[in-house]
Amino acid sequence: MKLTVRKAAEAIKKGGIVAFPTETVYGLGADAFNPEAVRKTFALKGRPSDNPLIVHISGLHQLDKLVKTKPNYFNKLTKSFWPGPLTIVLEKQPSVPDVVTGGLSTVAVRMPDHPLALDLIEQTGPLTAPSANKSGRPSPTSPEHLIHDYGDKIDYVDGGPCRIGLESTVVDLTDDQPIILRDGAITGKMIMKQCGIEVAESITQSSLDAPKSPGIKYTHYKPDAIVRWHSNSDKPSPNTVWLIHSNDIAEEGDQIIRFDGDFDRMARQLYDEFRRADLLGYNEIAIEPLPSPDHHPLISALENRISKAIHQ
Ligand code: TXA
Ligand code: MG
Repeated sequence: MKLTVRKAAEAIKKGGIVAFPTETVYGLGADAFNPEAVRKTFALKGRPSDNPLIVHISGLHQLDKLVKTKPNYFNKLTKSFWPGPLTIVLEKQPSVPDVVTGGLSTVAVRMPDHPLALDLIEQTGPLTAPSANKSGRPSPTSPEHLIHDYGDKIDYVDGGPCRIGLESTVVDLTDDQPIILRDGAITGKMIMKQCGIEVAESITQSSLDAPKSPGIKYTHYKPDAIVRWHSNSDKPSPNTVWLIHSNDIAEEGDQIIRFDGDFDRMARQLYDEFRRADLLGYNEIAIEPLPSPDHHPLISALENRISKAIHQ
């Protein structure tokens, strides 16, 4: 059911779960200090309990009860990128329930850049919010996607489509140097440029055995249709949707989705195209290989999400 922010806050304070919009994707919100409510989030999503949740805050005043020491560059980083699509991992306060962090000694925190989310969290206090999809499915970027995954069982705040469309960058600050655990709209280069902070390489598939970010090892972002990279010898087939970003490919047709070099739009629409392909009964989604990450800040995140949809 669609709820106002005030009704959503009331429901959450009573231990309920309400999906809400952020600038990245919709989150499934619960009171971060109510272990029972947080446990219900895992059950509703079908999420493994060792995959920790991000705690969302509306202001820096909520940080002290969540994290212990912060590195000296913390203020620079949050001044530049909060509110925004940057999730920060720090040592947690003992009062943060273990169910939130999957038993880890660290907690991931982010201040979302969305007026409805900030208004909601200001009324409820910190909220855990995994992406609101059923586990393994593409993250929801509109209320229609929520209904697609949960039917009419879900309560949500309607913010329309999300502005970015891919999940936040996750950066671990517990080592000497920040390490990016998940690529998103904020890149290591942007952090270097705006704050002068050197960021370590992203954690890649090679660290699957002992991932710092447990979510790395699980299936993600998958539609029912098979996702693959487009090859030059492909010819349009009635069963395949093409996602094309360059002007090099001449074919035209209903199932050819063009982004014309607009990678912001490609990121914003990616999961919607995945879900649309399923709804329309396509068997396959062929995506034109992406240019190098230097080309646009969202290329690394796009590459990461598409590769995961292909390989798992
Ligand atoms: O954009 C986003 O981040 C969205 C919106 C709703 O804020 N949320 C989101 O949450 O994508 P979720 O649960 O789908 O992904 C959280 C990621 C997972 O890969 C998880 O393993 C990682 O963050 N994570 C959470 N807590 C962590 C921790 N303490 N240490 C390392 N990684 C952590
Ligand atoms: Mg997720």
